[in-house]
Amino acid sequence: MAILEVDGIKKDFGPTTVLKGISFSLEEGQALAIIGSSGSGKTTLLRCLNFLETPDSGTIRVKDELLFDAADPTTQKEREIRRKRLHFGMVFQSFNLFPQYTALENVTLALKLSARERPDYKTRRRELLTEIDGQGMALLEMMGLKERAEHYPHQLSGGQQQRVAIARALALRPDVLCFDEPTSALDPELTGEVLRVIRGLAEKKTTMVIVTHEMAFARDVADQVIFMDGGVIVEQGPAREVIEHPTQERTRQFLSRYAEQP
Ligand SMILES: Nc1ncnc2c1ncn2[C@@H]1O[C@H](COP(=O)(O)OP(=O)(O)OP(=O)(O)O)[C@@H](O)[C@H]1O
Ligand SMILES: [Mg+2]
Repeated sequence: MAILEVDGIKKDFGPTTVLKGISFSLEEGQALAIIGSSGSGKTTLLRCLNFLETPDSGTIRVKDELLFDAADPTTQKEREIRRKRLHFGMVFQSFNLFPQYTALENVTLALKLSARERPDYKTRRRELLTEIDGQGMALLEMMGLKERAEHYPHQLSGGQQQRVAIARALALRPDVLCFDEPTSALDPELTGEVLRVIRGLAEKKTTMVIVTHEMAFARDVADQVIFMDGGVIVEQGPAREVIEHPTQERTRQFLSRYAEQP
């Protein structure tokens, strides 16, 4: 069953059309890698999925629920966008952790804020917060960071910070976890540790959309690959097929730039 269906997404910034009609679907438990040169619209697409940008046309469905329809303003009410955004988790290139909070606090903050909305919050406060801390610790442990729970972001390496950011995104149990070049701010050693964590999530059948420049990673870990160029999907298909045997000339040209690298 398709968990995510994106149909005909267009996005203009002023006179420039950055997304020219993007359609794809993603099955539950699958990982989709999005590749493409700089400026092709990859980040804009992820931002549209997370309601950080409003598409000019198109629809977004998650689990058959119409979350967004550019033609239907009732799907765009500010109040509901907050709830709809919870279907998606987002991990950014630059981590975006809260510097004043520890690793554990970064992971649990959103859960603790939402617990306040519960009718039994006043009576069960201590118990609920302990439970949330337990969930946060379990996520940090899964990321190999149990020992770092009380560290602040400035006390962590880039790779560790990014793993905290992944734990934070997972805490809200999104239907689709999105990554925007999660390793491009990291040096090769730290890149490896973050890619290992994402590979582990893929093995656990986490539904993911991963914008990446790591071609070998996309080929080995993703189920599907989309190659974007100039705001359109030029080619899409099974990851290994697209990366090893692209059918489109533009895809070939793009991939050949990676093949030349040592
Ligand atoms: N807020 C904005 N206002 C105006 N133009 C924008 C805005 N955001 C992005 N763009 C333009 O849209 C185009 C696509 O940008 P986008 O960031 O989506 O590309 P990308 O594929 O993620 O590139 P990169 O690989 O460098 O991250 C670029 O030409 C960019 O300058
Ligand atoms: Mg980008």
